[in-house]
Amino acid sequence: MSRPVYLAFEGTERCGKSTQSRRLAEHLGAALTRETGGTPVGERLRMILHDVDVTDLDSRAEALMIAADRAQHMARVVMPALDAGRDVVSDRSVYSTLAYQGYGRGIDLDELTLVNTWAVRGRWPDLVVLLDVPSDMVDARLADRALDRFERESTDFHRRVRDGFHTMADKDAERWIVIDATAEKDVVERAISAAVDERLGR
Ligand code: TMP
Repeated sequence: MSRPVYLAFEGTERCGKSTQSRRLAEHLGAALTRETGGTPVGERLRMILHDVDVTDLDSRAEALMIAADRAQHMARVVMPALDAGRDVVSDRSVYSTLAYQGYGRGIDLDELTLVNTWAVRGRWPDLVVLLDVPSDMVDARLADRALDRFERESTDFHRRVRDGFHTMADKDAERWIVIDATAEKDVVERAISAAVDERLGR
């Protein structure tokens, strides 16, 4: 049996991650989970993090709350599944912190890497699928409904996040798969499963 794989989906708001994470988990027979909010305590942290009434959260406090969610998620969900021989598909991972709190908010990337590597006990995703949607399409998708605390950030913030994801994917092409997520859902799903199967040699 091949070693179980820890695979993460990444991308900006409204890129279709939740749908595609679910479909790939079904395809692989993997455990499906998410950050933030993949554990009961993570759900509570997520409520605070998304709350638009939380108006004065310091960016380091935000990063540490997300790292706390991640530590709990790694210890209680991801590692137990991998140890039991199951693949894991996670909707977001530590790379979201580098993109949002690093490239987006401007916290030093090495410092974030250090704190988060400690939080995940050194276990980073084996494979990352970046669902790519152009910035103007993200802006348009965000224009159409009530927004949470992150979604309310400026278009510049969302652009820095998107560029950050691409910078990371370019630097670490062996780990990242970039998928054009502008097509119809079923087309995107087929592109993802073909690319992932090829990478995993399955
Ligand atoms: P989503 O799970 O619905 O995509 O929303 C999660 C929001 O939380 C999204 O706006 C990005 C943000 N977030 C961070 O800023 N840093 C992180 O490390 C994670 C996991 C999420």
